[in-house]
Amino acid sequence: MEKEDIKAEIGNLRRLLYRYQHLYYVLSRPEVSDAEYDRLMDRLVLLEKTYPEFADPDSPSMKVGSDISQSFPEVEHTIPVLSLDKCTSFAAVKEWIGKTEKNAERPLSFVVEEKIDGASIVLYYEEGRLSRAVTRGNGIRGNDITGNVMTIKAVPLKLPKPVTLAVRGEIFLPVEYFDRINSSMEIPYANPRNLASGTLRRVKSSEVASVPLDIFTYEGFSAAPVSTHIEILENLAELGFRLNGTLGVFSDRTDLEEIRKRHPHWRTGKIDDMESFIASERERRSSLDYEIDGLVIKVNEIPAREALGYTGHHPRWAIAYKFESPEGLTRVKKIDVQVGRTGRITPVARVEPVEISGSVITNVTLHNEEYVHILELGEGDVIVVSKRGDVIPSAESVSEHCAERIWNMPESCPSCGSRLEKKGAHHFCTNEECEAKNRGRLYFFVGKGQMDIDYCGPETIDLLYKNGYVRDIQDIYRFDPDRLLHEPGFGEKKVGLLKKGISESKKKPYRIVLQSLGIPELGPKVAELLIEAGYRSIDSLLEAAGNKDTEPLVAIDGIGEKTALTIIGELSRPEVRKRIDGLKKAGLSFSEPEDRSGPEPEQICRGQTWCVTGSFRRFKPREKAMEEVKRRGGRVTSSISTRTTHLLAGPGAGGKLDKARSLGISVVDEDEFLRMMDLE
Ligand code: IVH
Repeated sequence: MEKEDIKAEIGNLRRLLYRYQHLYYVLSRPEVSDAEYDRLMDRLVLLEKTYPEFADPDSPSMKVGSDISQSFPEVEHTIPVLSLDKCTSFAAVKEWIGKTEKNAERPLSFVVEEKIDGASIVLYYEEGRLSRAVTRGNGIRGNDITGNVMTIKAVPLKLPKPVTLAVRGEIFLPVEYFDRINSSMEIPYANPRNLASGTLRRVKSSEVASVPLDIFTYEGFSAAPVSTHIEILENLAELGFRLNGTLGVFSDRTDLEEIRKRHPHWRTGKIDDMESFIASERERRSSLDYEIDGLVIKVNEIPAREALGYTGHHPRWAIAYKFESPEGLTRVKKIDVQVGRTGRITPVARVEPVEISGSVITNVTLHNEEYVHILELGEGDVIVVSKRGDVIPSAESVSEHCAERIWNMPESCPSCGSRLEKKGAHHFCTNEECEAKNRGRLYFFVGKGQMDIDYCGPETIDLLYKNGYVRDIQDIYRFDPDRLLHEPGFGEKKVGLLKKGISESKKKPYRIVLQSLGIPELGPKVAELLIEAGYRSIDSLLEAAGNKDTEPLVAIDGIGEKTALTIIGELSRPEVRKRIDGLKKAGLSFSEPEDRSGPEPEQICRGQTWCVTGSFRRFKPREKAMEEVKRRGGRVTSSISTRTTHLLAGPGAGGKLDKARSLGISVVDEDEFLRMMDLE
């Protein structure tokens, strides 16, 4: 093809894709199928890759994102990014309206918009091109997240006119996607807002592109004169921005007829009609496709807005009406970091006491540094704390930014001073000797749900640690409790009870001992799965770890690659092995008593490696057939490899069957399998 033709094709594709993106994402009126859209996009991406000379920063292909890591430098806003004063009753709204009308000294109308519970963003356009997308930050400075925001389909990269303006909006994740996306996240988010904010901070924009984020815009700032907020919204729509279709306009003193005609779907009425609009919005709230946490009431007339002006934080021409929720406001006095037994460092906000649903809260977990950055939180800020669903209070958002700077994770461990290492979203202290980690492991081991040793709470552990009697969990069974007799509060009786607690704990079953070792990922559920799958003793697990082969563990339904890798990695570490040896010597249980369901079958599968495909009469799910192989000493894998010796194949067998045949692996059907296993 001639270069000219390619240029023309690229131009055509871009025009078409702009149009389809706008129809689909802004106007919700798609004209082509998803498949056709994808086909055109793939072609454009291919042409742009092959002919980089035709690159264009506004190309609709920018929506696909990039795999190159980016940082999010702090930049100054060129408009003041204010937040809103709040109220929680219609009486307070009316009072505010009365005061505002009086101060403005002219007839006013009020626009009521939904308050979208998402991530606040400012989009800066220069001469019609998106130049920057900046988070709200502290209202003066925010983070430049342009690369990520560009991937959001409803954010126009190029406007139909070469205008320079700033647009405020809220980026949100439609609720229908929240559960699905959240379940595959490393750290699940408390709500769609945090998931949206977290996504916007991903270092690779291609990862942002795969999350269906959306936006509603609600304010525009430009040099062009406008007389009303509604005109601003109309201009935004004309430029291709997505607006929320739900809106009310209320006034006792101005004529709304013209607005009614132009926007028949909007609610209009007298100020008192606003109350029923608010009530119907509260009703609709749970059925909306996005989360709202209230409504925003704004003065429509721009000259009046200018006359009313601003307080330090809020415009006097708008107020937020917040729906009630089990939340409280409190100030963050300090952010501390805690070191867990795995070395994981967790920031914790020490807050001024606040009562929420009957309990007084003074500490709020902030999960990790990333979470603090999502909230854009610093010491001194006022935060919204909620007790949504669970009992653990969570920091929902910052209500008032007072901090000089957003909090950052310290570089070293607060306990031992070692440098911290980041793995995924979390920071870890990797020093094996770290005291906080050692103590954390001990608290965990003796705690409820684990070995549950009576009279051996955190204070006792601290005392034992301080005296050097106990350093690691196996030491609990080695030290002589009589040595505590000289300590205050430790009489014969208490020491006796402690001895009893320790010796009783030796009777705990293997599954409890296993989960008490404090191996990451190996909690009660995984311990149960391992035992059920045939790993009935620590030796069988240590053997699997010795083989460094994750496959047999991954073959267990409910155990993923990451869990398998972690368990194998941990069980191969000398410290962990030493711990296990020590506990074995102390007499703890390291195997599960055999099933009472029958005698152990003959180990006829020893040395064999089985795989399964298709469906079966006797084995539903088919993994049950593999249990029989394991009971007879065989290995089981989820995919065929050169090490596979047998494939059990039933009707509906897929590619595994072809692969097995090509490798000359013995293929067995259900009847033959039943005969082999002596199950007929
Ligand atoms: S107007 C000066 N309108 O709520 C203009 N804000 O608590 C102030 N928000 O930071 C904002 N929906 O992120 C406005 N329809 C809406 C909104 C909205 C959500 C957010 C916004 C702002 C926060 C204020």
